[in-house]
Amino acid sequence: MDKSRDIAFSILKSYFSSKKLLKILISKKFSSLNIPLLDKRFIYSLVKGIIRHLLYIDYSISIFSNKKIEKIDKNVLILLRMGLFQIIFMDKIPSYSAVDESVELAKKRASRGSSKFVNAILRKASSIENLKEYINKHIEKNIRGYTKKISMMYSFPEWIISYWQKYYEKDAIEKICKALNKEPMHYIRFNPEIITKENLQKELGLKENNIVENQKLPPRLGNVNIQVKKISPVLNSSLFKKGIIFIQDISSQIAVEYFASPKPGEKILDLCAAPGGKAILISKLAREDTGILALDISGKRLEKLKENLERFNIKNIDIMQGDATSMKLENKFDKIFIDAPCSAFGTISKNPDVKYNKRKEDLERLKNNSLKILNNSKNYLKPSGKIIFYTCTLSPIENQETINTFLAQNKGEFIIEPVEIPQIKKEKNYLEILPHLLNSEAGFVCSLKNIKN
Ligand SMILES: C[S@@+](CC[C@H](N)C(=O)[O-])C[C@H]1O[C@@H](n2cnc3c(N)ncnc32)[C@H](O)[C@@H]1O
Repeated sequence: MDKSRDIAFSILKSYFSSKKLLKILISKKFSSLNIPLLDKRFIYSLVKGIIRHLLYIDYSISIFSNKKIEKIDKNVLILLRMGLFQIIFMDKIPSYSAVDESVELAKKRASRGSSKFVNAILRKASSIENLKEYINKHIEKNIRGYTKKISMMYSFPEWIISYWQKYYEKDAIEKICKALNKEPMHYIRFNPEIITKENLQKELGLKENNIVENQKLPPRLGNVNIQVKKISPVLNSSLFKKGIIFIQDISSQIAVEYFASPKPGEKILDLCAAPGGKAILISKLAREDTGILALDISGKRLEKLKENLERFNIKNIDIMQGDATSMKLENKFDKIFIDAPCSAFGTISKNPDVKYNKRKEDLERLKNNSLKILNNSKNYLKPSGKIIFYTCTLSPIENQETINTFLAQNKGEFIIEPVEIPQIKKEKNYLEILPHLLNSEAGFVCSLKNIKN
């Protein structure tokens, strides 16, 4: 029996019973076993793909099963989800092998009786030509109402779709869902003074089909990034281990490069800084006389930040553990970068379980938390200084509304500073990075300039 599928099964079983973060469950499993790289990739695609398309797959099961989903044994349900996902979404796997492997796994993980049930459903599904089209038509015909339909088609909880409907056009919502349901791309940042793009591709052994040509990047980023589909050749390379290249999503890079790029001699405070991705980029763009203080509430995550600074041999970042909503500091800063804790919808392509682990109530709580951070941090801003507010989410309550409330609470003290980014059109002074724009995570960023003094 196939070992990879068995490992995928046990990860999914832990996920459905514990609802712990999927990335933690996967990395725990991977570190406890010696799994070949190709198998790891297969397990990733299978497990993340199932969570990415969970509502759609469960709907498909309900088409072919005469037993209601709630009545199906939990292990059997996981096996059906695995089998159907392979049949519907994994083009390289022949349907008969997806069925046979699922049946074998059912004998081990459930019972002989259930293996027959699994066999019957998967065979029924795989006998249909253009299965995806068949399921889509079924949804179209049987599910009433736009919100429910889109929710099922793209496996986003209904509340997220109806929340977005208040702010985005239908067309934009579908684009967002589609982009967030794609397997993630990865941006690798390098320094062309140290290594050329061509040499980097050679040294990393990147195959043509792994490289994504993206012409649309803003100029300061286009020359220092390559984008790849598979990240493992990069993670295992000595260039990465020695800190010569680093992996950072383009939305974070835009926020740092265009909104927070340090000027000579500036003092910069990075709040909610661990594990340090943005602090490292700020430091790389800075001269030696730039002072950077990175603060985070989590000691564990700060340990990771320290490790990262060592790997990149970075010396101009001081570290402090503290709560940004209430911290007391001795100095004032020219720029304060806030990477606010948020619903993280912008990271769904990397972490598809984010779709299901947030509640509508969380949004107001996160907004209030960001307001506390903003209102506390402004005490440490120099006259004419800037607060750069960033989140990795598409959530107007946490983004636009937070900023509007902050501006109203501090009338006459701040303006949203216009920031021009070539090749990116903005209707407002803030920037909402939509995931389909650059094949990236989604996010929000704006620069709040202190105009009081
Ligand atoms: C999105 S992550 C930051 C990622 C980081 N800026 C980077 O670029 O690598 C959010 C961070 O906020 C921290 N955090 C959450 N609440 C906080 C608070 N009240 N004060 C300071 N840090 C906080 C978390 O520990 C977490 O490390």
